Amino acid sequence: MARQIRRIAISTGGGDAPGLNAVIRAVVLSAARRGWECYGIRDGMNGLIAPESCVGEGVQLLTPDNVHGIAHLGGTILGSSNRGNPFHFPMPDKSGGWTEQDRSGDVVDECRARGFDALVMVGGDGTMGIADGLQRKGLTVVGVPKTIDNDLDRTYLTFGFDTASGFATECIDRLHSTAQSHQRVMVVEVMGRYAGWIALHAGMAGGAHAILIPEIPFDIDVVAQAILARDADRRKHSIVVVAEGAAPAGGQRELASRAAGGHAERLGGIGMRVSHWLEDRTGKECRPVVLGHLLRGGSPSAFDRVSALRFGAAAVRALDEGRSGVMVALTGPGIDYVPLAEVAGHTKRVPVGSDIMETARELGICLGERV
Ligand code: F6P
Repeated sequence: MARQIRRIAISTGGGDAPGLNAVIRAVVLSAARRGWECYGIRDGMNGLIAPESCVGEGVQLLTPDNVHGIAHLGGTILGSSNRGNPFHFPMPDKSGGWTEQDRSGDVVDECRARGFDALVMVGGDGTMGIADGLQRKGLTVVGVPKTIDNDLDRTYLTFGFDTASGFATECIDRLHSTAQSHQRVMVVEVMGRYAGWIALHAGMAGGAHAILIPEIPFDIDVVAQAILARDADRRKHSIVVVAEGAAPAGGQRELASRAAGGHAERLGGIGMRVSHWLEDRTGKECRPVVLGHLLRGGSPSAFDRVSALRFGAAAVRALDEGRSGVMVALTGPGIDYVPLAEVAGHTKRVPVGSDIMETARELGICLGERV
């Protein structure tokens, strides 16, 4: 028999993505319609286990009034966690370094003490792993997929991706005219840690001439040849889009900093590298542009707002149907529920033989592949 629900809680974890507030709104309103209370946990799970680190209360009651007019706002009204995986919670040690503690038992105890019958956890791969771990410890948990990178497995789309790739496209559109005026090569670095969805979508939509993604280790000489071939054809400017996780064949990803103290390693710098390499090889002036966190900010697109609202409502529906241990997912025209265990730790990369990659090749876009 499904457990009687009276009170649920929601948390948002990992890198923010446009649409998070729309999910929160949908969850609160859908819960209220069922007569359930909804509480917001601040900063991922930190509001439960490290409330002193949060701005304001670690846990707050969310009413329909609190979530009025937030669906169009970027960021998350609940804050997110930069480091705070309760299964590997970073604690300062005596030597000034960091050590990890398993605080997941404290999360379970806190949820029980506060009378939370279920949790809705909104996040990416890391959050889905935590959600899966917590449901194995006996909590009722439903996940909602979020990441601008769109690399979460078992869902066709994550919210935030449409806004991010739309904004990146707008930036590429703007770079064409300055590239053309100066006969330059503009190298645009976009986010995309493990997968090139943003680079590919924005690059194709924005008319890029080369797109480099983590799925295809690139040959910089092939990219240089493509630029020189355009030059010879009297098309003197080029736009190259590079995902931050792209790497040359036989080379490494560019790191801005290593993992430390609960922080994941930070990627960054491949745009600058590619720009230098291309300048050396083509003799053309190249300029790197890093879009970085601009892609995560701002208002969600209409598509992301609606996806996020649908995901939020579906998460509450899943709980009402007695489900736990699932993530709501877009698997076709409708929403489906997929086991968290099948999502966590699996990355959805762009399939190399996929129609979208084939289309890029047919359009003559250089993917840096050796022929
Ligand atoms: O949301 C995922 C992501 O956008 C990755 O593409 C990127 O590597 C990461 O976030 C950067 O996150 P932060 O700067 O918040 O650590």
